[in-house]
Amino acid sequence: MPDQHHPLPAAELLALDRQHVWHPYGPMPGRQEPLVISSASGVRLRLAEPSQGQDELVDGMSSWWSAIHGYNHPALNEAVTDQLGRMSHVMFGGLTHEPAVRLATRLVEITPPGLEHVFLADSGSVSVEVAVKMCLQYWRSTGRSGKTRLLTWRGGYHGDTWTPMGVCDPEGGMHELWSGILPQQLFADVPPSGFDAPVDPAYADHLRSLLAAHADELAAVIVEPVVQGAGGMRFHHPGYLRVLRELCDEYDVLLVLDEIATGFGRTGALFAADHAGITPDVMCLGKSLTGGYLTLAATLCTERVANGISRGAVPILAHGPTFMGNPLATAVALASIDLLLGQDWQREVKRIEAGLSQGLAPARELPGVRDVRVLGAIGVVQLTHEVDVAAATRAAVREGVWIRPFRDLIYVMPPFVTGDADVARICRAVCAAAQEG
Ligand SMILES: Cc1ncc(COP(=O)(O)O)c(C=O)c1O
Repeated sequence: MPDQHHPLPAAELLALDRQHVWHPYGPMPGRQEPLVISSASGVRLRLAEPSQGQDELVDGMSSWWSAIHGYNHPALNEAVTDQLGRMSHVMFGGLTHEPAVRLATRLVEITPPGLEHVFLADSGSVSVEVAVKMCLQYWRSTGRSGKTRLLTWRGGYHGDTWTPMGVCDPEGGMHELWSGILPQQLFADVPPSGFDAPVDPAYADHLRSLLAAHADELAAVIVEPVVQGAGGMRFHHPGYLRVLRELCDEYDVLLVLDEIATGFGRTGALFAADHAGITPDVMCLGKSLTGGYLTLAATLCTERVANGISRGAVPILAHGPTFMGNPLATAVALASIDLLLGQDWQREVKRIEAGLSQGLAPARELPGVRDVRVLGAIGVVQLTHEVDVAAATRAAVREGVWIRPFRDLIYVMPPFVTGDADVARICRAVCAAAQEG
């Protein structure tokens, strides 16, 4: 049994990892050896042992969209340690505390107007479960219990628990295996690509025809606004969100925006809904909510949704994670929001957008590259073939950068504190990965 006070040599750690630890989206035992990280600071991950001649890597991934301020940030460290000195956790049933109350109030202030109530959850997937439960219960409580289905567009990703899996793209998506047994939801075509491509009236009609035909059974439309992330890293025009808002109003269907990846500035607006100037009925937040420090998510809803549920025969929302409203997580989330809004974050995101646009442009000329696209602090190189993840990762590590490609996509979303030289380095690494992967 390893002694936690004496660090394990990397080789031993990897042997135990292989024997016991199941990594995300991987087989057991894993086929690829993970890199061992001993610490992280700023935008750099320090390796326990050098790899490809590097002993630290610039993080191009923000730990899956979350670490927007980088690692080991003094203000975020202070928020956690300060809260730790008071209490790390108390149950949220029958008790409350300042960090959770202040966070909920802050989220109501900064999200689109009309979102008034906040349910704190422990991961993005769970916040989507809660969002769907809210919607179904709203209709049940208001006497329309036949409205139980969901509509989404193809190419989406909403998490790995059962309900979110049902609205991930059923073909070619991560959860295709389960297509036959997941609840049968309704899928529109993939929205037309391009943040700047004007709204296609034919696609808007397609959405309208689905809503018109299924309004009586639809509880909600759920989509990732502006950027479809793990389903394919596609961007679409915010006008489609306005179309959805209008159609949902017309056909009496709730609109859920999953802003778990897009929230907190990543696309250049604080929330992707802000690009469209709309308010959804329900909104999910997660990932960078805590600046990547601790797991926390939130499901926000309007007065209408909360009132509807509360007027029902069962006037409660039967959901209550053990670690709901965790004080450490809510305290660091507040500090992360203060940090973000206390600076000119738009300028930083624009700066990174310009750096990614310039640095990834040469990838367009590479053989095997289908498309290069950038929006906010997100850069994507799409290949004509499946990425050889091991080869692409090796090439990026050789350049001193950490990336995690999937399918035909090599993509980055660096922390907002990434300096220009490091953005350029990330781009060189992506180009190298595109060549070798
Ligand atoms: C849009 C979106 N929704 C939901 C999730 C699930 O979040 P979590 O991994 O915290 O469960 C993700 C995670 O990648 C996501 O990108």
